Formats: sequence, C-alpha cells, structure tokens
Amino acid sequence: MRSFHHVASSGPPRRETGGLTPKGIAMTAYEESDLRRAAAAAIRAPSLHNSQPWRFRLRDGGIEVLADPARQLAVADSGGWAVRIACGAATMNARLALAVQGTPAEVVIRPDRRQPDVVARLIRGPGRAPTYAEEDLFAAIPRRYSNRQPFWPDPVPAEVRARMIEGARAESCWLELLVGMTALSGFAEIAQSADRVLRRDIRYQTEFLGWSQADAAPDGVPVRAGAPLAEPQDLLPQRAFADRRRASGRDFEPEPLVGILGAASDGAADQISAGQALQRVLLTATDAGLANSMISQPIEVPAARDQLRRSLGRSGVPQMALRIGYGHPGRPTPRRDLAEVLEM
Ligand SMILES: Cc1cc2nc3c(=O)[nH]c(=O)nc-3n(C[C@H](O)[C@H](O)[C@H](O)COP(=O)(O)O)c2cc1C
Repeated sequence: MRSFHHVASSGPPRRETGGLTPKGIAMTAYEESDLRRAAAAAIRAPSLHNSQPWRFRLRDGGIEVLADPARQLAVADSGGWAVRIACGAATMNARLALAVQGTPAEVVIRPDRRQPDVVARLIRGPGRAPTYAEEDLFAAIPRRYSNRQPFWPDPVPAEVRARMIEGARAESCWLELLVGMTALSGFAEIAQSADRVLRRDIRYQTEFLGWSQADAAPDGVPVRAGAPLAEPQDLLPQRAFADRRRASGRDFEPEPLVGILGAASDGAADQISAGQALQRVLLTATDAGLANSMISQPIEVPAARDQLRRSLGRSGVPQMALRIGYGHPGRPTPRRDLAEVLEM
C-alpha cells in the first residue's frame, strides 16, 4: 500500500511556462485549458439534492470558483451553508485536477469582500510533480457517488479510518468517527428527530420532491439513486427520493460507521474549508474501495446541530454527517454540461 502524502506537500520542481510582467517579474497564469480541466473535475463534487450551485471563471490568470445564488435552495439552504459546502468540495476537485498536471494552485478562500460569490481563487503556484496521494484522490473523483443503499456489515479498517481523519485535518477541519453503539444510538436519535422536523415542513418537502428526477435530468437526484423507503427498524434516516420498498432481507447494516465532519467555527470560510475537507474524506474513502452517503438533517435543523455539537464534546461546529462502508456498486449521478458553468 502506498504511503499517505499531504495534498499540499511539495515535490521536485518542474519547468515553469509562465510569462513576464511588464517589470520583468516572473509570473505564471492558468489558461483556458486549465480552467476547463479544473471545472470538469469540480462539477463531479456532491451538492445538496444535486443542485450544482457553482460557476467557474478565469480572472487575472487565476481560476475562480463562484457560488451560483440562482441554484441555492430557498427553503433547505436559506443561509447558504450547503452552497458553500458544495463549492468547497468542487474547489478540492479543481485543486487535484491542477495538481496532477504539475501546476498546483495556492488557494485563497473568499479573496474579495466586495464579491462574496467568489468562494475561492486558485492561483498558480510553483510547478512540481504530483504526489501519489494527489494522483490517487484525483483518480477517485469519477468513482465517488452517494450510495444510499444498505452496506455490508464488514468493518472499515483502522488504517483507512486514520487516513480519513488525517484528510479532514489537512484541511483544518476534524472528522469524529463514532465508536460504539452508545455514541451511534445518540447520533441516530438526533438525526431521526431532525428528519421528523423536516418531514413535517411542507415547504421543505415540496422543495425536496422538486429535486427528485428522472435519470435523464442533468441535475436533481435520479430515482434510482435514492434510498429504499424507511422502515421502523432503520437506525438512520436516509433520503428516499422515491417510494420504492426494499427487497426483503435487505436491511441496513446494524452498526454503520458514522463520521461527523466539523470546522473550527461556522463562518463562510469555515464552511468552504469543510467542503474541501468533506471531499478529501470522501475521495480517501472511495480510493479505499468504500461507499458513502451523507446525512445532513442534523446539520440543517439548528437545535439538532447544537445537540450534536454538545454530544461530541469537542470545540468547533459540525458541518456534515457521513455513513461509510462497503457497498454494492452503483452509478454516478448526472451533471449539467460544462458549458453551462463556465463564465468566459
Ligand atoms: C451539503 C450537502 C448535504 C447533503 N445532504 C444529504 C442528505 O441529507 N442525504 C443524502 O442522501 N444525500 C445528501 N447529500 C448528497 C447529495 O444528495 C449528492 O451529493 C447529490 O445528489 C449528487 O450526487 P452524488 O453525491 O452521487 O454525486 C448532500 C450533499 C451535500 C453537498
């Protein structure tokens, strides 16, 4: 097994191809082909109900990731948390795409106060060869998708758990993996009660159903990607996106591995970091042959999120909950065309 390298770690320098400023100072810039490559990877990121709330453009030689306010969910995401998580995840994919071609980026989060929609600016840093970890995580991008089906009961190896925790830490976030049935039941209770709150909210449910789609749609969640209908014995709430019952004997794993991803605080920059960390954890899991699904109900309901934060007893704020395990193979969900998200 290859050793784990930090995505931002340095390697041997490569030849620079940048131009010169009028004063003769060396400068390097990304080009349109880099923007396309970065954006093609970025759009594979997860987003709430597959809303894909992002855009990408080239400005002053840097690649910018922008939030798309027109695609922010008015009810489920009135504060923009989910947009920032999704754009952070997209930023991570873009970083990996640039790194594997030997032109890694330096990331500036929210570079311009006057333009709050600019989530991140990727500035071309010194060239270097990609690390093994960058190559592995990049290769995992097209293989990562949400899997809301039951997983096998097999435990996730300690070495993979450690790599996922390290992945979150490398992005200034934390990943708390719940150990033991007591912690798991505590989380399940919080998640189920948050789910009940959201199920009782007619506006929330109407918006949610609006994102349940046929396979051919370029956004929203295809019916085939939803979970089977909830049953009374289920520990965790899973989003069904349709009304299909499960095959008999196909219950969810009795002791799922649940991770809570958190950031130091809950400002916009913390949420963008959490999105990057989320994607890094998900790609690490995918690279190790693991499946995942996200459970954001306890993050979306403020009282539940606060309860979850207190139950963990660590500083910082939960930003996402994940279920990780060995799953049956599924398929990636659709995305809009690249042309729709590029601003030229
Ligand atoms: C902020 C955020 C919240 C999410 N919440 C949930 C959730 O509660 N339940 C769920 O099944 N999937 C959740 N997802 C996963 C999205 O539905 C999924 O990423 C999207 O449909 C795209 O599909 P993919 O992950 O297969 O690429 C969430 C994703 C994000 C980024």
